[in-house]
Amino acid sequence: MSDEKLLVVTDLKTTFDTANGPLPAVGGVSFDLERNETLGIVGESGSGKTVLSRTIMGLQPRTKVSVTGSSVIDGFEVVGASENDKRKIWGTEVAMIFQDPMTSLNPVMRIGKQIDEALRVRLGMDKAAAKARAIELLELVGIPSPQERYNAYPGMLSGGMRQRVVIAIALACSPKLLMADEPTTGLDVTIQAQILNLLDELKDRLKMSVILVTHDLGVVATRTSRIIVMYAGRIVETGNTRDVFYHHRMPYTKALLESSPKVSNHSHTRLVTIPGRPPNLLSLPDGCAFAPRCSYATDQCHLVRPELEPSTEPGHTFACWNPLPINVEGALA
Ligand SMILES: Nc1ncnc2c1ncn2[C@@H]1O[C@H](COP(=O)(O)OP(=O)(O)OP(=O)(O)O)[C@@H](O)[C@H]1O
Ligand SMILES: [Mg+2]
Repeated sequence: MSDEKLLVVTDLKTTFDTANGPLPAVGGVSFDLERNETLGIVGESGSGKTVLSRTIMGLQPRTKVSVTGSSVIDGFEVVGASENDKRKIWGTEVAMIFQDPMTSLNPVMRIGKQIDEALRVRLGMDKAAAKARAIELLELVGIPSPQERYNAYPGMLSGGMRQRVVIAIALACSPKLLMADEPTTGLDVTIQAQILNLLDELKDRLKMSVILVTHDLGVVATRTSRIIVMYAGRIVETGNTRDVFYHHRMPYTKALLESSPKVSNHSHTRLVTIPGRPPNLLSLPDGCAFAPRCSYATDQCHLVRPELEPSTEPGHTFACWNPLPINVEGALA
């Protein structure tokens, strides 16, 4: 196994060309990911988590979008690569569990066939080998009686079981990096925990790295080693999970923690309510995009955008002119 980082993202920008002008959904993001690491990406709805994830693997729309910067997955530069070349890494190097799992399965196709298809098209397996492997994958993701379930249609399975099938499809070609975009949205809390436990277990078993995208800090608290906090398409704080939870410096991180359901006994909710409205990406202010909602904001915050700067702990950075004092205890303490 190479010592190189699995993923290196440098100044990645995604700008949509809209009828109302350019919309910078991702405004210059840099980070990297180790092998066998789980990284969380958190932020309010509209902060750019999904667009960033898709851009990292080169899945943006074909037109009306401009992507600059760099995203290198296991040595492969995604930005600027042809669709044909990207297809070679999709599935085998990187796979994604999409935000809306219930629509990512074909309702009129037996689930076994949906897994077979990935194996036959991408790995060139013959029919019998693909079926055997599909059943193995169903077993791997904890689906009982996989031989029988192979012939089931998605509608015959519960939400949790369907999500396991989605995971099986993502894992079909043994990716090194699994991007999971809100993988438990819409599932009840017990099933949510089961699916997250399954992802943890599979990560270790298959030696993958996982990027766990969510607006819910409770989800990433115990399951990631590092967290990226996004606001208006940029990273505003990043660090080890513990540091982000307990030593955060950026008032937005604090607000996000305070508005997040508690780690224990919460049910999944899409509502994260921080006072004020998220910024309009079509007309971002010159200063900090969070300043209009921030009770700590000073004149400087409204005028000049702060860059990420190091905090006291290794790898912990934040973008704020008027940060919270060091060692502030987080809302989940
Ligand atoms: N194809 C597109 N064309 C124009 N704007 C887009 C497009 N896709 C996304 N956006 C905009 O990009 C911004 C970031 O969206 P994104 O879906 O990444 O947010 P998110 O953080 O994933 O939110 P959520 O938590 O709701 O999933 C939003 O303002 C969204 O409206
Ligand atoms: Mg999203």
